[in-house]
Amino acid sequence: MLTPGTVLLALKIAVGAVTVLFAASLVALAIRKPKWHGRLNTVFFVLTLTTVLGFEVIIRYVNPHLTADFTDAQREALKVHLTFALPAAVMLPAMLYTGRKRLLKLHVPFALAFVVLWAGTFVTGVFFLPHTFEPAP
Ligand code: HEM
Repeated sequence: MLTPGTVLLALKIAVGAVTVLFAASLVALAIRKPKWHGRLNTVFFVLTLTTVLGFEVIIRYVNPHLTADFTDAQREALKVHLTFALPAAVMLPAMLYTGRKRLLKLHVPFALAFVVLWAGTFVTGVFFLPHTFEPAP
């Protein structure tokens, strides 16, 4: 069930779905609905951390051999993806905290770094990771 193909597909769908939420939160900000920016990002926060933690639990405990048959290039793609995704996940609590407390002197500069990390997470997650996975015979 938790084959590499299924896990990678689920990961791509999850990254795509939460990116839609994050984009909507920025639209809310642009049309001056800060409450909706906060609400959408609270959902984004919960779903993103659930995805990252779920993925870590799967590749470490449930199916530690998930990447065993990856080629070197595929393993490198996963490493590059995690280089963006893990710092983005670490920043999320700080984003939520500074947003809620309206510490905008921190929230806005943090947001610039977060956007770069999230763009990297999205591009490397959706486009660079293999779309399907067939182990070599
Ligand atoms: C490009 C990324 C982001 C930018 C530019 C940004 C910018 C802002 C700004 C300017 C406000 C103040 C709005 C106002 O009161 O007029 C705000 C509020 C807030 N932000 Fe962000 N933010 C970003 C990402 C995030 C993320 C990733 C989170 C959470 C994970 C977040 C959570 C919040 C919360 C909870 C508020 C308070 C909303 C309220 O008034 O109820 N933001 N943000």
